[in-house]
Amino acid sequence: MSTTVLRAQAAQLTRSFQHARRSQELVVLEGFHPLKHALRFGAQVEQIVTVDAEELNGLAERYAADIREQMTERALLVSRRVFRQLGPYEPHTGVIGIAARLSCDVKSVLDDARASPVVLLEDPRHRGNLGAVIRVAAAAGAGAVLNTGDQDPWNAVTVRGSAGLHFALPVARIDANALEQTNRPLLAFDPAGRPWCPARVPGRAILAFGSERVGCSRELIARADECVSLPMREGVSSLNLASAVAAALYSLRLAGGE
Ligand SMILES: C[S@@+](CC[C@H](N)C(=O)[O-])C[C@H]1O[C@@H](n2cnc3c(N)ncnc32)[C@H](O)[C@@H]1O
Repeated sequence: MSTTVLRAQAAQLTRSFQHARRSQELVVLEGFHPLKHALRFGAQVEQIVTVDAEELNGLAERYAADIREQMTERALLVSRRVFRQLGPYEPHTGVIGIAARLSCDVKSVLDDARASPVVLLEDPRHRGNLGAVIRVAAAAGAGAVLNTGDQDPWNAVTVRGSAGLHFALPVARIDANALEQTNRPLLAFDPAGRPWCPARVPGRAILAFGSERVGCSRELIARADECVSLPMREGVSSLNLASAVAAALYSLRLAGGE
């Protein structure tokens, strides 16, 4: 663990975090769990900063024994005042980092012959929801998470929402036209669709979900091979987006699909 930084180093550190937040190549890891998953899944972590070396060591011993040394030996110790200058959000775990984003070749994701389903989110609006989807997709073994619309999936808030599991599977924003280049079956999830039967889902399916407020667009429904619904008790209009993705992926996994 390095000792507390001097004033000039603190100013340089602040500039590094400002740069990382604007960069399309870098991502800020806000908190212990994003940092833990980034290291565990082999991210190139460029900076680790903490306000409490003992707490970081304790968290690492408890939740990340496999990468404890990587995490604690490189961490730079700073005062609370310097830590607060590193961004708008102060992680309660007292640790923050910078890593290189992973690039994603969308064509090779779509061409991948393996059976794992790919999750497609149409214009998701909520950064935390997008992060929660990436987290459950990584856990359930999905092949990738792609999204259309203007949300950058590598935004720090989204990476916090995924607990850093962006590093466990390909994640990218795509143009909706990219779907025209693939022969994967496309299933659109919509509360008005036919009942979802995971046992009948073909391999390599794209499971597509609509945006939080407006649901699936007409274009997505028209392009889909099938429109399916998850069962809900009468009176309930819809599931939260990330809950719908979780239900779909886990029912598929438990039914024996990939
Ligand atoms: C919050 S919902 C959108 C609700 C929107 N008002 C609508 O009517 O579709 C976000 C997305 O989650 C998925 N979803 C939510 N509940 C679902 C269900 N019971 N069956 C299938 N998909 C569902 C759909 O893809 C939906 O577009």
